[in-house]
Amino acid sequence: MPDLWSARPTPYAAVDLDVLETNIARMAASATTRGLSLRPHVKTHKCLEIARRQVAAGATGITVATVAEAEVFVEAGFPDLFIAYPVWVDAARGARLRALAGRAALLIGVDSVEGARMLARHAGHDTVDVLVEVDSGHHRTGVAPARAGQLAAAATDAGLHVRGVFTFPGHSYSPGQAEVAAGDEAAALRTAADAVRAIGLEPDVVSGGSTPSASSTDGDVLTEMRPGVYVFNDAQQVELGSCSPAQVALTAYATVVSRRANRIVLDAGSKVLGADRPTWTTGFGRLPDHLDAVVVAMSEHHATVTFPAGVLTPELGELVRIMPNHVCTLVNLADELVVVRQGRAVERWAVAARGANT
Ligand SMILES: Cc1ncc(COP(=O)(O)O)c(C=O)c1O
Repeated sequence: MPDLWSARPTPYAAVDLDVLETNIARMAASATTRGLSLRPHVKTHKCLEIARRQVAAGATGITVATVAEAEVFVEAGFPDLFIAYPVWVDAARGARLRALAGRAALLIGVDSVEGARMLARHAGHDTVDVLVEVDSGHHRTGVAPARAGQLAAAATDAGLHVRGVFTFPGHSYSPGQAEVAAGDEAAALRTAADAVRAIGLEPDVVSGGSTPSASSTDGDVLTEMRPGVYVFNDAQQVELGSCSPAQVALTAYATVVSRRANRIVLDAGSKVLGADRPTWTTGFGRLPDHLDAVVVAMSEHHATVTFPAGVLTPELGELVRIMPNHVCTLVNLADELVVVRQGRAVERWAVAARGANT
């Protein structure tokens, strides 16, 4: 561990710049090869410096989850944003959207006639353009693909400009399902785009994408992809096989505070790492430098890690890196990220959209 960090209180989040830049370049190249525009989801990092690097590498715009995230990134000068969420636009949110109009091109998701009417009433007709959300198998938000035309027609009647369709193939987050989800995504978006054509609109945006399914995203059907987690990767992506441990750019640094036989306890818990624990993961995170260890329990300030019998465990007081299961929830809890280049801390980046969840 670099000396200059020994005085820094743990736990803290650190980004390996070389790994981050390689991840950004690899996804940009992968999108280009398939003729897809790349519109990365910036909820993963909430950092201006990282979004600027993604745009410099060829991203055509950015994706956000909330109006508040849009406000942060428009304020910083990002010109082209998609709020990939069926935002319920009341008078207050409508006013906030109108305040962004003219400063950036804005797209927003709709998945109901009522939502489209609220958007038109409170944000106006020219503030944002619309993508109809369809369900491709994740069963969260989105209408059935064949109903995309009906919803596009209702949104048009409400005075909105419908640019196309989108989906999130979130069922890629299950072992062995990435290719299946990408296939479902392409089938759903093809049906949805045809349904929109059938009412006389030509969709110029057909948007999908998730990190696990990214390498299988269909460039013949989709026009753009919106992966987010790929910039950092995390323990889930390692266990799904989307990346190797060496491709994980963000880890939390924690101190060993307790040590018994083959078990250690680290001073990073759910208040730092987030508490996501899908049933199929091996534990509450992974240690990139000890891949045989299992994070068997987590509480607010403790991560309990066990090692195979006979393996030498880290000493009391030692710094240990831990990859969270889901990196977006870690970032959402952090004020800043320590940026590391070849083992040396070189800068700090503010999590600019920290708390921008409305
Ligand atoms: C609507 C939407 N688009 C894109 C993404 C990015 O996918 P991933 O987190 O797998 O990178 C997400 C992630 O939750 C999402 O909800």
